[in-house]
Amino acid sequence: MTPRFPAPAWLVGCGNMAGAMVEGWRAAGVDFSGVTVIRPSGAPVEGVHTVTAYPGEMPRFVLLGFKPQKLDNIAPELAKRCGPRTMVVSMLAGVEIASLRARFPGVRAVVRAMPNLPVAIGQGVVAVQGEGAAAGEVVELMRPLGMVVTTERECGLAGIGAIAGAGPAYVARFADALAEAGRAHGVERDALAIALQTLGGTAALMQGTGEDGASLARRVASPNGTTEAGLAVLDQDGALERLIEATISAAIARGRELAQAAAGRG
Ligand SMILES: NC(=O)c1ccc[n+]([C@@H]2O[C@H](COP(=O)([O-])OP(=O)(O)OC[C@H]3O[C@@H](n4cnc5c(N)ncnc54)[C@H](OP(=O)(O)O)[C@@H]3O)[C@@H](O)[C@H]2O)c1
Repeated sequence: MTPRFPAPAWLVGCGNMAGAMVEGWRAAGVDFSGVTVIRPSGAPVEGVHTVTAYPGEMPRFVLLGFKPQKLDNIAPELAKRCGPRTMVVSMLAGVEIASLRARFPGVRAVVRAMPNLPVAIGQGVVAVQGEGAAAGEVVELMRPLGMVVTTERECGLAGIGAIAGAGPAYVARFADALAEAGRAHGVERDALAIALQTLGGTAALMQGTGEDGASLARRVASPNGTTEAGLAVLDQDGALERLIEATISAAIARGRELAQAAAGRG
């Protein structure tokens, strides 16, 4: 069943990420009649009423879709317009429930939702964490966007945010690197398309078989063959694992900084 927004619903900020969510909801046939986008540029969002100033009526649902650094500019005015029937859903990386609660003390519930860009085509990951029954309502709303996971603890959300929220950036750069290496070694045309088909096909295969990467790699690599020669480079001194671990740790550390900044100001 297609979920419905509690109306009136406000999408406060609608850039790359909230815009991708709107695309995913639109493709799923979600009704936007009770939804308003509020953004300073007033840039239109297809199929959704878009304005530059808050409407008069108290919202029942507010999605925070701006950058974490904007929270203290936006929260004081926005909080005045919210009330005991309002659910606030934040996708601000790093900013914890307690910091949001401090800024929206009178609202019904505060929920965090950490999406990623493939929500635009219903292939995203959305992690949800938050207060009681409201988190369940947010899970239902996010279902058309892809895989929805719930987490009890904020550190779980930070981890999912680092691998899934930020993940498309890393996967996209890996695809570029694969294509570039192909070009350097004689792939004349369609190097990126070939790299993407390889990534997508491998992911689909692993989802279908349920096997892990090590098992699939064993099926590709014959002893002393070409793949094994390449894997030896990836595995030398744990090169691949160390690189990915350092990448994810850096994202989590930045999330912690954003969390502390928001907690400090709260
Ligand atoms: N990008 C991702 O892949 C991703 C993944 C997970 C979570 N997130 C989170 O999503 C949030 C948005 O990221 P983004 O990449 O979508 O950023 P973005 O493309 O820069 O969009 C930011 C939005 O905030 C709006 N905005 C700025 N000032 C505002 C104000 N005073 N009142 C209302 N709206 C205001 C902007 O409006 P205008 O368009 O009118 O300028 C814009 O629509 C961040 O908190 C980020 O942590 C992003």
